[in-house]
Amino acid sequence: MASVPSLASTVQQRLADALSAALPEAGPADPLLRRSDRADFQANGILALAKKLKGNPRELATKVVESLGSTDLLKDVEVSGPGFLNITVTDRAITETLAARAADDRLGVPYAEQAGTTVIDYAQPNVAKEMHVGHLRSAVIGDAMVKIMEFAGEKVVRRHHIGDWGTQFGMLIQYLIEHPHELDHKDADVSGEEAMSNLNRLYKAARALFDSDEEFKARSRDRVVALQSGDEETLALWQRFVDESKIYFYSVFNKLDMEIDDPDVVGESGYNDMLDETCRLLEDSGVAVRSEGALCVFFDDVKGPDGNPVPLIVKKSNGGYGYAATDLSAIRDRVQNLGADTLVYVVDARQSLHFKMVFETARRAGWLNDQVHAVQLAFGTVLGKDGKPFKTREGETVRLVDLLDEAIDRAAAVVREKAQDLTEDEIAERAAQVGIGAIKYADLSTSASRDYKFDLDQMVSLNGDTSVYLQYAYARIKSIIRKAGDAKPAAHPEVALAPAERALGLHLDQFGETLAEVASSYEPHKLAAYLYQLASHYTTFYSECPVLKADTPEQVENRLFLCDLTARTLHRGMALLGIRTPERL
Ligand code: ARG
Repeated sequence: MASVPSLASTVQQRLADALSAALPEAGPADPLLRRSDRADFQANGILALAKKLKGNPRELATKVVESLGSTDLLKDVEVSGPGFLNITVTDRAITETLAARAADDRLGVPYAEQAGTTVIDYAQPNVAKEMHVGHLRSAVIGDAMVKIMEFAGEKVVRRHHIGDWGTQFGMLIQYLIEHPHELDHKDADVSGEEAMSNLNRLYKAARALFDSDEEFKARSRDRVVALQSGDEETLALWQRFVDESKIYFYSVFNKLDMEIDDPDVVGESGYNDMLDETCRLLEDSGVAVRSEGALCVFFDDVKGPDGNPVPLIVKKSNGGYGYAATDLSAIRDRVQNLGADTLVYVVDARQSLHFKMVFETARRAGWLNDQVHAVQLAFGTVLGKDGKPFKTREGETVRLVDLLDEAIDRAAAVVREKAQDLTEDEIAERAAQVGIGAIKYADLSTSASRDYKFDLDQMVSLNGDTSVYLQYAYARIKSIIRKAGDAKPAAHPEVALAPAERALGLHLDQFGETLAEVASSYEPHKLAAYLYQLASHYTTFYSECPVLKADTPEQVENRLFLCDLTARTLHRGMALLGIRTPERL
């Protein structure tokens, strides 16, 4: 496995060397290279350099061009405008670089130079509650980030911080004690749907009783105390709720084509043993102070509408712990026991204030510092077609499973319309890959921080920036390669490239750099954009450059080679987003 430097980085280096050779007095200088429409690349760095040396930029540029000479790498370097360089690389350099990528399993993508350990907190639904579109976003974005960072060589620890603790369990457990058969199953094989409908029914019944019956309410409150003090019978019943919910969660994750491993599910309750100590450490160090009976952390810049400071409450005045104490304990665990140097939280932007206060508290306590930092990969709200938070017509939150099923149904219609020789089973399999892919891609292709409209018609459209478009591009390439028969993809550096081939080739060459940027900025939408552009470049190439009917056998092979590398790059990129690319569609 050999990593392949991109042409952009090779040219950048060559220019930097030429700059310091031509202008030794300037010291190391950045040529500021970028892709350009005029030529392959444009370098603007000479302008700043000329200013610094008080020279004429065009003269300096000419001097640099002379010192570059002509090489296998550079076909043409031209001074333009006030002192830019327009740079064209040779066809040979493009094909040779791509051939080196093709020879590598990782497509020449290097591992990150400084890999560390990142804990990603994502896919965190709540026990005994239906999953909704917010949980979809966290799961989809988190899963993509896990894959992208692991591919970059980072050690990734997954944490599913499920909501499995809290006073609501008092009511649920008490109800179950009084109605012991409510969670029983007919057979050992419970479906996720059945598990959730059991939980829903129980939840509604318990809630109704809680709201109407004062005595039940009192018994439920006592039950909370029993739960918190670790009463065995109570804990065993609590565990039944968790187990029943997990059956449901796993069925949804499975439908989402997402692997969630049980040991990575460490819910809020997983930190119960640490809560006391966390509070003690915060109080002893003076980070948290007593205020009106509660243990609080204050911030200069967090104030309520009345101008009074709003504290982070780590321990309530009644002695109970909340969400913040758990998250602070989780930070200690992740940093001190899991050895993380980066913590990423894929959580709704509406929890940003919580995380801001939690992170700041952890910094004051010394759990986070310059070497160990935390970020919230905050995502926006999923909106309905009306631009308001996505709800059913009755105003209820939309059940995630219903959405997934609908997407799969729509996808089945699209697949069936195009299908020529697919069996019903194959159509069903493709429909799941297309439908789930459509949902994931729609989410991943907009910047996470933005809200987006959930529009299934658009998501499964064959035209435009959708996963189906990318999946079809992939399947089309595979079909061309199948049709090629004896002609096999092979790079021929001596074959001249048409403009569309060069554009496709130079874009293919950017895969590694795109991934590196995505991994360090936590912006999967940039990978989606890259892949969409790749498919667009391919479409242009395909319409301008006959592949199987190219002029010479070498040209046929070289074009097949471009097809093949495009397919592999699409396949890899989509897989990193958690999206399948069927071989035939
Ligand atoms: N369960 C929470 C919710 O549904 C999300 C948990 C986020 N993670 C965390 N460490 N607080 O809103």
